Amino acid sequence: MKKRLTLSLNQELSTNLLKTKIDVLVIGVSEGRILNSIAEKIDKATQGSIKKLIKRGEFESKVGQTAYIATNDGTSAERIFLIGCGKPTKDLSSEDLDKIAMSVTTCLTSKKSSTGIVSLPSMKHDSKENTDETLLQKIGTAVESKAYTYDAKLNKKNKKINYLKKVSIVIDSKQSAAKLRKGLKTGQAIGQGMNVAKDLANLPGNVCTPSYLATSSRSAANKYQKLSCRVYGEKEMKKMGMDCLLSVGNGSAQESKLISMNYQGGKKGDKPYAIVGKGITFDTGGISLKPPPTMDEMKFDMCGAASVIATMQVVSELKLPINIVGVVACAENMPGSKATKPGDVVRTMSGKTVEILNTDAEGRLVLADALTYVERFEPRSVVDIATLTGAVIMALGYSTSGLMSNNDKLAEELLEAGRKASDRAWQLPLWDVYQKDLDSNFADIANIGGRAGTITAACFLSRFAEKYPWAHLDVAGTASYKGAAKGGSGRPVPLLSQYLIDKS
Ligand code: BES
Ligand code: MN
Ligand code: ZN
Repeated sequence: MKKRLTLSLNQELSTNLLKTKIDVLVIGVSEGRILNSIAEKIDKATQGSIKKLIKRGEFESKVGQTAYIATNDGTSAERIFLIGCGKPTKDLSSEDLDKIAMSVTTCLTSKKSSTGIVSLPSMKHDSKENTDETLLQKIGTAVESKAYTYDAKLNKKNKKINYLKKVSIVIDSKQSAAKLRKGLKTGQAIGQGMNVAKDLANLPGNVCTPSYLATSSRSAANKYQKLSCRVYGEKEMKKMGMDCLLSVGNGSAQESKLISMNYQGGKKGDKPYAIVGKGITFDTGGISLKPPPTMDEMKFDMCGAASVIATMQVVSELKLPINIVGVVACAENMPGSKATKPGDVVRTMSGKTVEILNTDAEGRLVLADALTYVERFEPRSVVDIATLTGAVIMALGYSTSGLMSNNDKLAEELLEAGRKASDRAWQLPLWDVYQKDLDSNFADIANIGGRAGTITAACFLSRFAEKYPWAHLDVAGTASYKGAAKGGSGRPVPLLSQYLIDKS
């Protein structure tokens, strides 16, 4: 994975801080006019500008608050920002740490700075899981992922430049440098993973095809000794009985692919954790064609796949001591002359037959066979990730992923991972009352039904996930941004990575 930044912890920085030539200096300040030794030094060197600002009440050091101070040529830093770190007597929550990490990132990237130093005061946290190490992880993720620019298909003059290249951090902490460094490194790896996912998401549908995702997964596997990759084409899938997955790509000239990645970080016989991604590289809706407005955004319909491919690289980078399987089901949903039609019935790999009432409900069709495929690994848990329904946006908007599960413990672990990694999900019920919405007169199960679109989609998947603890993340609202910021968000790479880290 590409590192966009050199990001390091340097606890000895304070000694020659005033002589180090840098573009931007970010100084964390606690509430109550208490300056740590570095802030004190900078205050002296700038004729008391920090204290003056605090005295005038222009900067209260509220969590996440930022201010720009004049350097008065007293330091070798081109510009100085203050960021608020809250009361030193009050315990900081995980959300407070998010705000601090965001402010650090904003200050580092707001001007055309290429080198930066961040100094943080000692802080109190509200729990054992919430530590300086956690804060550094959050900063690592935020800074690395903010340094992302997409330019694969842009002309040189249109390319956005990422100026920030090198950042050092110094923090007053009781934790060991090793721990703090680990937090920073973990965070940066997650940020890099988000950027991998964004790159795959942002490539246009005419480039990022199922074959492209396969090639990209293979080359990722080549970079890590413990990561391997196997790709199944249409012929091999036909042999395995994956007619349901294959039915989605029938109308497309692009060959469907099933990508199966294997990360061997644990012992040989250890049962793996599995993550399974929806990889529809473009979703026209098929014969149940979507309306034109915003159809271009359906190139993002492979974001589940991208998050799996990216997370496999994050765990490889972090060398987690567990086994993990990553499966991606790829197809292009097009209305060609051989396309599946409403009313068609197909057989799944599990043996169950499906009546396809709406060809636009295609994600669940490719996932059904992928979920049956992973049974062979006897996984400890299976999490699928999919931009599955527009309805989840109605329910939870663009900030929160939908989570449904057949196992409460797994659901809780994923929700917790999302909280920790600032990549939130919220659980929706998967009660039996919804299952009958999928009854069909002509097959074992219909592919649509009922009014609770997100839940019935998960109900459909649950029929193919009966043999293991399983959870489904509907990321239709969270995996990409709309409007001016249109593009992949890199979610839910943080949640998935955190879940697997917690399992290690
Ligand atoms: N890929 C879409 C879901 C989607 C919608 C993702 C909006 C991102 C933004 C999915 O394949 C789909 O078309 N779902 C249908 C299901 C319906 C036909 C039951 C939907 O949500 O409208
Ligand atoms: Mn669709
Ligand atoms: Zn889709």
